[in-house]
Amino acid sequence: MLVVIKKNFEEMSAEAAKLIAKLIHHKPDCVLGFATGSTPLGTYKELIRMHKEEGLDFSKVTTFNLDEYVGLPPRHPQSYHYYMWENLFKHINVDKRHVHIPHGMADDVEDFCDWYEQKIEEVGGIDLQVLGIGANGHIAFNEPGSSLGSRTRIKTLDELTKRYNARFFENPEEVPKYAITMGVGTIMDAKHLLLLASGYEKSDAIQATVEGPITALYPATIVQMHRTATIICDEQAASKLSRKYSGYLS
Ligand code: GLP
Repeated sequence: MLVVIKKNFEEMSAEAAKLIAKLIHHKPDCVLGFATGSTPLGTYKELIRMHKEEGLDFSKVTTFNLDEYVGLPPRHPQSYHYYMWENLFKHINVDKRHVHIPHGMADDVEDFCDWYEQKIEEVGGIDLQVLGIGANGHIAFNEPGSSLGSRTRIKTLDELTKRYNARFFENPEEVPKYAITMGVGTIMDAKHLLLLASGYEKSDAIQATVEGPITALYPATIVQMHRTATIICDEQAASKLSRKYSGYLS
């Protein structure tokens, strides 16, 4: 696992976008896994700039998103569909037929989850998966206690996650109770993991992820077992790492 510590959110975002762009140059038809939340917003902004100013070409790229709230239609401003189109897809030349986001309104959620897993397999797997991290150690919506071998499925959201995500909703009551999420096992199958974290409120989560024991109570810790994982975080998020001056690249 490579831990890269950058000065701040902007530098973290620029570094992450550089890594993604490098993969697209090397493999124009790569499969990218995208995340939502506030952390990857700077990375997406930089990718848009690279597309507009440097011609970064997404036309052959296939994408899969990690998760989606159950019960929110794609046009709902808090849905992850809406987020992805607003913050990235509508600004780049991705082919919409190559975009995959879990369907929060699926009639048969179980069927949908099987289809999503199959689809990832059909395209040869995810080359690079972008991840954020919840303050409780969740990745995607794999909340504490999630099986480390889990696949795409429906999950009940943790109380802490609901409270944290309530900031995006007008009324906390509107935060959905369930989500469809790639499983921990699905995420671990990606060829490269790129986990991003910014800010002091993520410092405990980063400390546990990098230095803590691997436990289902902190699903992000499984990243230690991945053969090609890169964590890019800023100094605040890295502030509780005990070996940051000797062992980690900054
Ligand atoms: C959400 C998402 C995660 C995301 C996390 C952190 O609940 N399901 O994929 O990584 O929260 O969000 P933020 O980046 O806003 O801190």
